[in-house]
Amino acid sequence: MEQITEVMEQMDHLRKHNSNMEMCYKNDIEKIKERMQKMLKERKAETNKEPQEIQWRAIHPYKAIKEGECPICRGERHLIAFINGNLYSKRCSCFEKEIAMQQLQKTGIAESIEKYTFESFQITEQWQQKLKQKALKFLKEKSKWFFVGGQVGCGKTHICTAILGEFINQGKSVKYILWANEIVKLKANKMDDENYQRLINPLLTTQVLYIDDFFKTEKGKRPSEADIRTAFEIINYRYVNKGLITIISSEKTVDDLIEIDEAIGSRIHEKAKGYNNIILWEEGRNWRLRK
Ligand SMILES: Nc1ncnc2c1ncn2[C@@H]1O[C@H](COP(=O)(O)OP(=O)(O)OP(=O)(O)O)[C@@H](O)[C@H]1O
Ligand SMILES: [Mg+2]
Ligand SMILES: [Zn+2]
Repeated sequence: MEQITEVMEQMDHLRKHNSNMEMCYKNDIEKIKERMQKMLKERKAETNKEPQEIQWRAIHPYKAIKEGECPICRGERHLIAFINGNLYSKRCSCFEKEIAMQQLQKTGIAESIEKYTFESFQITEQWQQKLKQKALKFLKEKSKWFFVGGQVGCGKTHICTAILGEFINQGKSVKYILWANEIVKLKANKMDDENYQRLINPLLTTQVLYIDDFFKTEKGKRPSEADIRTAFEIINYRYVNKGLITIISSEKTVDDLIEIDEAIGSRIHEKAKGYNNIILWEEGRNWRLRK
């Protein structure tokens, strides 16, 4: 782009300062200039295209699909597109899903994805109905956060896992962490920068992150300063970078979180507006203790 502009400027200069220039030569320059201006315009229009207008397609669009192969990428697991005349490639949603499942298997939640679904979430009380409706509505959101806090055993992890499962089906890159386990791992590697970055980076950048049992500590204890610092690093990165979806379940409410650390709590409060679910502690709400 700059090169074209530069050539045009040089031509203008030539035209202005070379009065002996022959008429036909001048006309040629005008023609070239016109052509270049047209090219510039076209390029600009292409650069301004919305990302959703990009036509991703299979690498081999006419390849026969074998049984069980993805019909979008035709089993190649990658898609290609031409953007501004350059060839780009990206992972197909089927590949994203496979990667997500592998990661979930490592954290032991893969089975839960099969079990904790919207279908298996039973409704016997109004608050469950409300929670499920909110969760279903949340699936259509692009960069909001989902929070559910309160009563032990009321289905917080169940409903959040159901959301996660749906995002996996949409081909989003997702990560699941159980806060108490993850924070131990992160703190143990704090002194080893390379390892620490390797552990924390996926939590910062994944399209969808589910933090289960956020700030769970031994009874009555407040999270340590080190826990708060690490939590802030994750929450703030995801808060600042648009389009990252975060799902949080906790025995604590957002108000409790604000009381523990205002910077963390208020960020969650803002992002989870409309999806801040509090399940009050009431007898009979612990599913595990049902008779
Ligand atoms: N509405 C529901 N329908 C079907 N099963 C449910 C429902 N609510 C909870 N359960 C089941 O009860 C068990 C406990 O639920 P879950 O682990 O989601 O609770 P939680 O709120 O995350 O608890 P904790 O605070 O201990 O983490 C799970 O096996 C879950 O599938
Ligand atoms: Mg739970
Ligand atoms: Zn595919």
